[in-house]
Amino acid sequence: MLSLTTLALTALPIALAQSSNDEQVIGVYMFHRHGDRTAKMTPPANFTGLGYEEVHRSGQYYRSRYIAPDADFRINGVNPDIVKQTQIAVSSPEDVVLQDSTMGFLQGLYPPVGDDLATTTLRNGTEITAPLDGYQLIPVTQVDSGTDSENNAWLQSATGCGQATISSNQYFSSKEYNDLLASTQDFYTGLTPALERTFNESEISYKNAYTIWDLINVAQIHNSTYGGSDLINNTSFEQLTGLANAHEWGLAYNESESATENVRAISAMVLAGEIVEFLNKTITSEGKQKIGVQFGAYATFASFFGLAGLQNVNDDFRGVVDYASSMTFELFTNSSVTVSADNYPSEDEIYVRFLFSNGTATNESEPTPYPLFGSGQTAISWKEFTAGMDNFAIRDNEHWCTICGETDGTCAAYASESSGNDGASASASSGEKSGNGLSPAVNGVIGAMVTLAVVLGLEALILVVGGFRVVSKKRLAAAAAATPVNGGEPKSAA
Ligand SMILES: *[C@@H]1O[C@H](CO)[C@@H](O)[C@H](O)[C@H]1NC(C)=O
Ligand SMILES: *[C@@H]1O[C@H](CO)[C@@H](O)[C@H](O)[C@H]1NC(C)=O
Ligand SMILES: *[C@@H]1O[C@H](CO)[C@@H](O)[C@H](O)[C@H]1NC(C)=O
Ligand SMILES: *[C@@H]1O[C@H](CO)[C@@H](O)[C@H](O)[C@H]1NC(C)=O
Ligand SMILES: *[C@@H]1O[C@H](CO)[C@@H](O)[C@H](O)[C@H]1NC(C)=O
Ligand SMILES: *[C@@H]1O[C@H](CO)[C@@H](O)[C@H](O)[C@H]1NC(C)=O
Ligand SMILES: *[C@@H]1O[C@H](CO)[C@@H](O)[C@H](O)[C@H]1NC(C)=O
Ligand SMILES: *[C@@H]1O[C@H](CO)[C@@H](O)[C@H](O)[C@H]1NC(C)=O
Ligand SMILES: *[C@@H]1O[C@H](CO)[C@@H](O)[C@H](O)[C@H]1NC(C)=O
Ligand SMILES: *[C@@H]1O[C@H](CO)[C@@H](O)[C@H](O)[C@H]1NC(C)=O
Ligand SMILES: *[C@@H]1O[C@H](CO)[C@@H](O)[C@H](O)[C@H]1NC(C)=O
Repeated sequence: MLSLTTLALTALPIALAQSSNDEQVIGVYMFHRHGDRTAKMTPPANFTGLGYEEVHRSGQYYRSRYIAPDADFRINGVNPDIVKQTQIAVSSPEDVVLQDSTMGFLQGLYPPVGDDLATTTLRNGTEITAPLDGYQLIPVTQVDSGTDSENNAWLQSATGCGQATISSNQYFSSKEYNDLLASTQDFYTGLTPALERTFNESEISYKNAYTIWDLINVAQIHNSTYGGSDLINNTSFEQLTGLANAHEWGLAYNESESATENVRAISAMVLAGEIVEFLNKTITSEGKQKIGVQFGAYATFASFFGLAGLQNVNDDFRGVVDYASSMTFELFTNSSVTVSADNYPSEDEIYVRFLFSNGTATNESEPTPYPLFGSGQTAISWKEFTAGMDNFAIRDNEHWCTICGETDGTCAAYASESSGNDGASASASSGEKSGNGLSPAVNGVIGAMVTLAVVLGLEALILVVGGFRVVSKKRLAAAAAATPVNGGEPKSAA
């Protein structure tokens, strides 16, 4: 299937072939990355003014695409100005950068309505104008609670996904990883003067490809005195970028496994389930809910790209997505009748289009449609879409428990059915599977961290876990006694 795809498609899919006016969009689901932030290695990672601007502009773009009265792809029946809470569902993990990004985005999507719309007259004749120019309040569900929390609760406890731990550890013992670790050591060592304020000698290697790149990338954006160094020139920065991309892709997706067995992509399997649930509810409720928005980590993008076979469409999908990137699933119909509450299209008349924007979506840089699942088509029928997603989507606790080989806590209820996986979880926790020359204990921690990073991308949580209050070597040294093993493992992935 994949080779067919590769043959059938040239480097870029048929971009922007979508402006067909007989199409009516009936719902969308967006997964969005946060905007610019400070470096992970100088915690806490803070959201920045630039980041706010990026996500806000993205919200403005999507407003002008889907919501505004004159929008080209106006969602059928969506409220244009004053948000209708039942039409929109927004979620974000418990993480400052992601929560802030979500709020910034929503202000672009549904901006303050101004004095006119925000003024009401009370019974006694007094006129009341809402504060902040009619700033609209839109609830953001934390992914571990709220509506449907029975099914979402486990998302927060994903650190316990034993099989994802094992799978992630495999990357660190793979030939790909070890070859790069060895062949790039001289390159990284050569950059020591630019990194030694933050990383110690043993941390300066491909092992920390992402956090090293992240530190330099943030400095290049924010630090006006940075750049005097000849060490980080365009060539070396490009090399750092390529290595960070390879590292993160390796953690997010294993190309030699099928999508179904790719347990290290667990976060995207969960996301896929949420997308199908949401859009299916849009259809079954005949359009009561219309817009789903979720903020999350870049690693989830990468895992999803892998699962959906997008790396076979364009090699760029193997790279870390830029700040404020978004992927959108557009549910539309081209049936000739005008959609209304009494005249809702049947499933057979509904299609899904996938779009991706690398970085902030704007009028000048619009999201591009790409074909999912090697279909070669940028729009596929709802049936093909759900069939493709169902190859890897996780839609309930039991499925998650089985795939993760978990039997404790919430998973105890399904333990007897998934007992076949007990051996695997046991070896995950004892760190038995070490083939990379690190002690089992170290492997266990790498696994735990990687699982956190890949599955959750929760900066806040990682801080709580400890070991990463890494600012300077001095503080590191002081903390060393309290920190179980070296903190040179991949850090969070938001
Ligand atoms: C982030 O903000 C906190 C205060 O809220 C500050 O102490 C910290 O230095 C900031 N971090 C960076 C990297 O700017
Ligand atoms: C009208 O009602 C509001 C809210 O109860 C109150 O704050 C305001 O003082 C009232 N105005 C007059 C003129 O009674
Ligand atoms: C991919 O998974 C296979 C086992 O299914 C494993 O042998 C291989 O090392 C993994 N590759 C990477 C890069 O993790
Ligand atoms: C900016 O870069 C310079 C030179 O590398 C460094 O001395 C300084 O501490 C950096 N500033 C911040 C805020 O990181
Ligand atoms: C770029 O930096 C690398 C080392 O970081 C150095 O080897 C190379 O010569 C530099 N290239 C230029 C054009 O300065
Ligand atoms: C480095 O890249 C930037 C843009 O990415 C460019 O403006 C600059 O001219 C480049 N510098 C060199 C020395 O090539
Ligand atoms: C959509 O929801 C309906 C009603 O809950 C259910 O019967 C159907 O199987 C769902 N379809 C998909 C593709 O999940
Ligand atoms: C997004 O842009 C980054 C560079 O900024 C690149 O590394 C990555 O491959 C791009 N991804 C896609 C899907 O275009
Ligand atoms: C983007 O284009 C839409 C029309 O398609 C327009 O309404 C909107 O103002 C434009 N946004 C910007 C920031 O130019
Ligand atoms: C509706 O759009 C889909 C996907 O682009 C296409 O396959 C189908 O032929 C279209 N149907 C009509 C009636 O235009
Ligand atoms: C580097 O830092 C880690 C903690 O992040 C520590 O475990 C390790 O011992 C340090 N290595 C050296 C050579 O100081």
